[in-house]
Amino acid sequence: MSGERRRSVVVTGGTSGIGLGIAAAFAAASAEVLVIGRDPARGERAAHDHPGIRFVAADVRDATAVEQALATVGRIDVLVNAAAGNFPCPAAALSPNGFRSVVEIDLIGTFTVCRLAFDQLAKPGALILNISAPQATTPTPFQVHACAAKAGVEMVTRCLALEWGPLGVRVVSLTPGVVEGTLGVERLAVGDGTLARLREVLPLGRFSDVAEVARTAMWLASDAAPSLTGTTLVVDGGLSVAGGAFSRVLTKGT
Ligand code: COA
Repeated sequence: MSGERRRSVVVTGGTSGIGLGIAAAFAAASAEVLVIGRDPARGERAAHDHPGIRFVAADVRDATAVEQALATVGRIDVLVNAAAGNFPCPAAALSPNGFRSVVEIDLIGTFTVCRLAFDQLAKPGALILNISAPQATTPTPFQVHACAAKAGVEMVTRCLALEWGPLGVRVVSLTPGVVEGTLGVERLAVGDGTLARLREVLPLGRFSDVAEVARTAMWLASDAAPSLTGTTLVVDGGLSVAGGAFSRVLTKGT
């Protein structure tokens, strides 16, 4: 290990849930990890709990703040866009600003960070990993905002893979399914018995956990998959092949 350059990793939304799990996994593997997030208290806790994580507060909707946060690192080897916002709301009750907020965080925020990190990233071996969601491909009740935003994220992934591939940059989306203990699941799986019903419709009959998603991210960032780019890796226990079961459960539960 001695003499080996430490990898430089940036994780947005890395103060909790999947983002934190990925940031912690890279830090445990001796990377230098910059976590960007909105909540200073959570960010400082993440940095305290995981040596190797450094935190800078910034909202991905604020390009100037993102630029300042990125200026605290030199080159970037891995950029993970995990910042997201979501809530369940019927389309007929959703305000235009509610829709805009989620699109601004998930979709525009993802592009903003990729774009502002470009000069630090653009070199052979770099990876951008965008955290997507089942909503990107499955129309989901009460999720028009998240469906639109995450569908856009998947096209950002593919377009950047096309344009930045010649520079040696891989760009990949990762779709987790129902990941236990995350704010996203807590917010969406409302109503008595919703989680139990979700488990029943999952072909593998199990939820995934943050550690599994983090291991997948580490694998993607390793040299095990040098041709994997411009696509989405689905780590969802079979949710995507369950024929809209996710949607039916959420409709019933809300
Ligand atoms: N149902 C309907 N509309 C909602 C809502 C809900 N549960 N929560 C927020 N909104 C609407 C607000 O009413 C507001 O619209 P308005 O101005 O027309 O009233 C708009 O969304 C913005 O809300 P606000 O709370 O001001 O935005 P914010 O920037 O502070 O928060 C959110 C962003 C809305 C995405 C918020 O849910 C959030 O901070 N989420 C972060 C954590 C998270 O969602 N994690 C899970 C990721 S999968």
